[in-house]
Amino acid sequence: MKLSEGWVPVALSSSIEAGTSAGAIVQGSEIVVWRDSSGKVHVWEDRCPHRGMRMSFGFVRGDHIACLYHGWQYDTAGQCRYIPAHPTLDVPQTIKVPTYLAQEKYGIVWATTDEASVMPNTDALEATPVRSVFVDRSVDDVRDAFVHAGMTALTAETGRLALGDDILLIGLQEMRDTKTAAHIVILGTPAIYAGAKQKHYAQWAERFRYGLEQPRTAEVA
Ligand code: FES
Repeated sequence: MKLSEGWVPVALSSSIEAGTSAGAIVQGSEIVVWRDSSGKVHVWEDRCPHRGMRMSFGFVRGDHIACLYHGWQYDTAGQCRYIPAHPTLDVPQTIKVPTYLAQEKYGIVWATTDEASVMPNTDALEATPVRSVFVDRSVDDVRDAFVHAGMTALTAETGRLALGDDILLIGLQEMRDTKTAAHIVILGTPAIYAGAKQKHYAQWAERFRYGLEQPRTAEVA
């Protein structure tokens, strides 16, 4: 799913600490997911308007992110506010990084350009992060495998999977035609699920990824 088509899961919230940034890919488009020092998460195009350096290589300072290359600083709206080589310059409003809407829910960071799109909904009030797995398969293959395992769809690329008494929420991020990220959380409070359950499902997810990436009969023949 494209960022223009609805809320796309782009990272586990727990993987983006305050004051850090990380690069991600949605259908071939490079994005940066970063969290300012107040804890608010932001998702932008991963490209500095100056010379195209990845913003995900930059440094978060308070509520600004500074590009690694020449140190241009951008505020949380993506607006460039300071150019070190021209410290007295009133920076033109046109120097701006394209931004996406960003939201955190169920322990996952979601992004979109579509203000009207609806976030997947479950009854859960809390979630416990498990892990993100990156699978060398198309999003259709990965979705089919989770459906085969019992996942029921909440949206096109999000579903619930009941395993015994536990319920996982799985968000699929199509990175490229043959690369998909699956962001996995347990629906329920960390007071119950942190620790042994997290570890159990992290190992389960890794086995799931490994199984999916094995050559299938048709490919071997
Ligand atoms: S490329 Fe970002 S400041 Fe120059």
